[in-house]
Amino acid sequence: MKRLVLLLSVFLVACSNDNTPDVSSDKAAAEAVQALQQSGSVDGKALYAACAACHGAQGEGNPGLHAPSLANQQDWYLERQLLGFRSGVRGSHPEDGYGAQMQAIAKTLADDAAVKAVVAYIADFKAKPAAKTLEGNIKRGADYYSNLCGSCHGPAAEGNEKLQSPALAGVDDWYLLKQFNHFRDGIRGADQTDRYGYQMGMMGKTLPNAEIANDVIAYIQSLAD
Ligand code: HEC
Ligand code: HEC
Repeated sequence: MKRLVLLLSVFLVACSNDNTPDVSSDKAAAEAVQALQQSGSVDGKALYAACAACHGAQGEGNPGLHAPSLANQQDWYLERQLLGFRSGVRGSHPEDGYGAQMQAIAKTLADDAAVKAVVAYIADFKAKPAAKTLEGNIKRGADYYSNLCGSCHGPAAEGNEKLQSPALAGVDDWYLLKQFNHFRDGIRGADQTDRYGYQMGMMGKTLPNAEIANDVIAYIQSLAD
């Protein structure tokens, strides 16, 4: 029993670490906020300088800071997420520490023109699939994906703008799994005014267990090869 309690507490600490930014990422966030406050620029390249510390010079991401690659994402999706962080529908849940960091940064972008400018700059990055970090049962993942996910995200996880469902192929697998779990647990997408996040929140409850979620994301990663 003692061992179980110990295991459980290790597990809980591991989980909370995953959602609680460490000192280095907090520092990077504070520096980005300060840089954006001082710049007052609407030039996409100049604005992106504040993003590069976490998302990388070419939008390749930085797993150590929990910051996803942006190079593989669609411009309409990036813009909508930045607006969601700004309005507070994303990144406001108390357990969403990294979302809160990104919310503070998005709120420092001066206006919608600044959001558009930085997204236009990111859209010119060369898409390069993020490295694989997860192993899973790809065949089982493929079955669940085609039954439950492909209708919105597309048969090759290429995304569907009409349904506002983003491309998933090529995006970091660790990030997709984390976001999927956040939808499932109501940490992202629980706010009904977040129309598309709320939709995905309901989908987050459709996979039977964590192992299968892992398989589905491993399958999505394999589509980017
Ligand atoms: C301190 C590090 C940091 C900086 C600086 C930063 N970000 Fe982020 N960003 C993150 C993290 C961490 C996440 C993931 C949040 C989560 O887990 O929900 C994120 C998520 C995002 C997302 C959502 C991507 C998706 O697929 O859901 C976008 C878009 C984004 N950032 C754009 C930017 C832009 C544009 C800038 C500069 C104006 C910027 N970020 C600066 C850390 C940072
Ligand atoms: C009804 C359409 C629909 C279905 C079906 C659906 N999704 Fe989504 N998904 C969305 C939408 C819309 C978003 C964007 C949510 C937002 O704007 O916050 C999304 C976002 C996501 C994200 C976050 C991506 C990112 O870069 O932040 C992941 C991961 C995801 N979906 C995985 C899945 C998986 C796995 C399945 C199948 C179990 C699935 N989705 C089924 C509509 C759908």
